[in-house]
Amino acid sequence: MSSPESGVSKPATSGFVTMVSWISALAGLLFGYDTGVISGAILFVQQDFQLTRVQEEVVVAAVLLGAVIGASFGGKLADRFGRRKILIQVGILFIIGAVGTALAPTPAWLAIGRVVVGVAIGIASFTAPLYISEVSPASIRGKLVSLNQLMITIGIVVSYLADYGLADARAWRWMFGLAAIPALVLVIGLIFVPESPRWLMSQSKNSEARSVLQRIRETTDVGTELADIEADLQLQEGGWRELLARSMRRPLIVGIGLAIFQQFTGINTVLYYAPTIFEFAGLRSASAAILATVGVGVVMVLLTVVALRLIDRVGRRPLLLYGIFGMIISLGVLGFSFLSPTLSNIVAWVAMISLPVYVACFAISLGPVFWLLISEIYPLKIRGRAMSIATVTNWGSNLLVALTFLSLLHSLGRAWTFWLYGAIGIIAWIFVYRLVPETKGCTLEEIDARWHNIGQSAK
Ligand code: BGC
Repeated sequence: MSSPESGVSKPATSGFVTMVSWISALAGLLFGYDTGVISGAILFVQQDFQLTRVQEEVVVAAVLLGAVIGASFGGKLADRFGRRKILIQVGILFIIGAVGTALAPTPAWLAIGRVVVGVAIGIASFTAPLYISEVSPASIRGKLVSLNQLMITIGIVVSYLADYGLADARAWRWMFGLAAIPALVLVIGLIFVPESPRWLMSQSKNSEARSVLQRIRETTDVGTELADIEADLQLQEGGWRELLARSMRRPLIVGIGLAIFQQFTGINTVLYYAPTIFEFAGLRSASAAILATVGVGVVMVLLTVVALRLIDRVGRRPLLLYGIFGMIISLGVLGFSFLSPTLSNIVAWVAMISLPVYVACFAISLGPVFWLLISEIYPLKIRGRAMSIATVTNWGSNLLVALTFLSLLHSLGRAWTFWLYGAIGIIAWIFVYRLVPETKGCTLEEIDARWHNIGQSAK
């Protein structure tokens, strides 16, 4: 798909839609914070509750399990009840989870609380991009949807800082509980946010859709956009029939494939393992290694900002192709630096540099672009459900990588583990090159019409 710049002009004003996107992206902040916080909290939880190894693993994995569960049913809810309504419920769930885990009297309670948080993350992780995608003008959709990824990365850094700041007091309950604050802001903010006009159209609430669109476009001249959405809806059957139709095959493969590659190229392993890598590479004290990890997080935030600036200009495909290429190279180099049992000065430096380079390359490619593309490439009537499928795959892959990482290290060793992630990166590059469409500048309806045409001509 190329990008027909025609018909997609820069919006005259985008203040309201930008504000609405920032509010929704608070869901991303919670995603990042709640997934990142465990790395610093678990040590103290373990000591306070005297957890066995297995119990510790359960507490750590609970959030990923919850996310798989939440992502699996969230899509249907978002299609049925609306994007905004579901986001509000998710915000409330985040508050319950934060308070519940902060007060947990037993390990079982804590694990269940973390599953609840996970369910909220699983639903929020795709509902926020979905909502933002549907309210955004085509010309800045990439940037606005990726605000969610920016907030994920900020959430991760804030969680590192909270863990660091609260470590002396061993205050793990506060580490979990602090998430209630952004969750409350999210819920309050969403009160002022309108429902997605596209979802309203799919429910035949056309006049409501018109007034929302006039508000977010800040003009009364929304007839063409409404007519396009209406015409697109005429092409769609909705339900499982449409989801399983031939024309949906390629978008489903693209969503599922990118979901797997985003995780199987090892981002969370590298983030989680960063302090150890830094210590191994020569940062002697644990706190220096943790600060270096905060530095890596900051690199991730900054490069996500760069991605936001580029994504609507150069497009999604170039970012993916260059970024994944960089990930492959840096994983290769990182692996090499682990080959020798002791790191000489120069090799230690190479390891310490290739790690932030890898994270930077992720931040301009698979990080934001996966969530963006799955919010763009599915037809309106089944958008929530189709995004659910890609999102479940993403969280399932995340869980699988977490569960296999230690045994991989044990059986393959450090170098080969990172090379394995690099090899998967090579497959990801080919996958993107051959299958992923460019969606820059196209309206959601134009993207859908193309799949439909491909489906028609294949008949
Ligand atoms: C991924 C997460 C990852 C985060 C890092 C997200 O897009 O889905 O698994 O931890 O980016 O920034």
